[in-house]
Amino acid sequence: MVSIKAPVVENRQYPHDSFILAVRAPEIAQAVLPGQFVMVAVADRGTAPTPLLKRALAVYSVYPEDGRPSIVTFLVKIVGEGTRRLNSVRTGEYLDLVGPLGKGFDLNRGKGKINLLVVGGTGIASVYLLAEKWCRGGEEVHLVYGGKSADYLIGLDDFKRLGIPVFVTTEDGSLGQRGLVTEGFQAYSGKFPTEHINLCTCGPNAMMEAVTVVAKTQEIPCQISVESKMACGFGVCLGCTVKTLDSYRLACTHGPVFDGARFVWESNSAR
Ligand SMILES: Cc1cc2nc3c(=O)[nH]c(=O)nc-3n(C[C@H](O)[C@H](O)[C@H](O)COP(=O)(O)OP(=O)(O)OC[C@H]3O[C@@H](n4cnc5c(N)ncnc54)[C@H](O)[C@@H]3O)c2cc1C
Ligand code: FES
Repeated sequence: MVSIKAPVVENRQYPHDSFILAVRAPEIAQAVLPGQFVMVAVADRGTAPTPLLKRALAVYSVYPEDGRPSIVTFLVKIVGEGTRRLNSVRTGEYLDLVGPLGKGFDLNRGKGKINLLVVGGTGIASVYLLAEKWCRGGEEVHLVYGGKSADYLIGLDDFKRLGIPVFVTTEDGSLGQRGLVTEGFQAYSGKFPTEHINLCTCGPNAMMEAVTVVAKTQEIPCQISVESKMACGFGVCLGCTVKTLDSYRLACTHGPVFDGARFVWESNSAR
């Protein structure tokens, strides 16, 4: 884990209050594992100091510069003051970053399996590095990705470029199958023998809970990436406690990726 100031190299706007921030942060780019996150804030602009704590963001993707991993991107949805501030940064401004943090996906679980990523909305930010890693390792990966309409499905082309099969659902039917991603998941996963499937899911609380219920019933291993509210990000404030069948856990250090079969859904569990 490092604490650094990183220059913004791009802030690309998308519909529905979403944006992708790219920063030059080689220390993080070279260390991050799929499913890990970074605590992020706009660095002091020399006017009033920021009153806000850093916000947790998954590392969406990593790009090389001069042949070495250097650029880190975050895919962000504006929901409040912290993400609004992040949206306002311009190229050349700096972000304060602490990371990479947390325990990401267990990559070994995917070996020799049909790896099914089931994702709702900006949950997509947590699984691109995972898909890329498994693809590069020759593992089989499929994406089931749902949103309200086609223009909510940010990053879709990045996954298509990986060459993996992508099954899309939209609530208004503007792209793919009309309906919820959970319905798409049920239909799509039915193509494969359950004992060969390895599931990973990220998205709104209700969506992940529904996916884990199906996974549990069908005895499909399922990793979930939860987005609990976090103040520190590294185990000090105890503000991100979640419940599992084993005991209470901290989402920031024991997670954010958990075994779905052992997770107990409560109000601070995730979105
Ligand atoms: C490990 C992790 C990875 C994350 N990755 C991403 C990501 O890649 N992209 C992204 O856009 N967001 C991500 N989030 C969620 C992001 O941290 C919150 O949206 C952000 O902290 C909200 O800050 P804010 O100041 O804009 O909103 P606030 O003013 O703090 O809150 C605005 C509203 O959002 C709710 N809220 C605040 N924090 C969260 C949260 N963590 N989860 C759900 N609801 C929340 C509040 O209850 C309130 O209703 C992640 C969270 C975690 C824990
Ligand atoms: S966010 Fe502070 S302990 Fe987890």
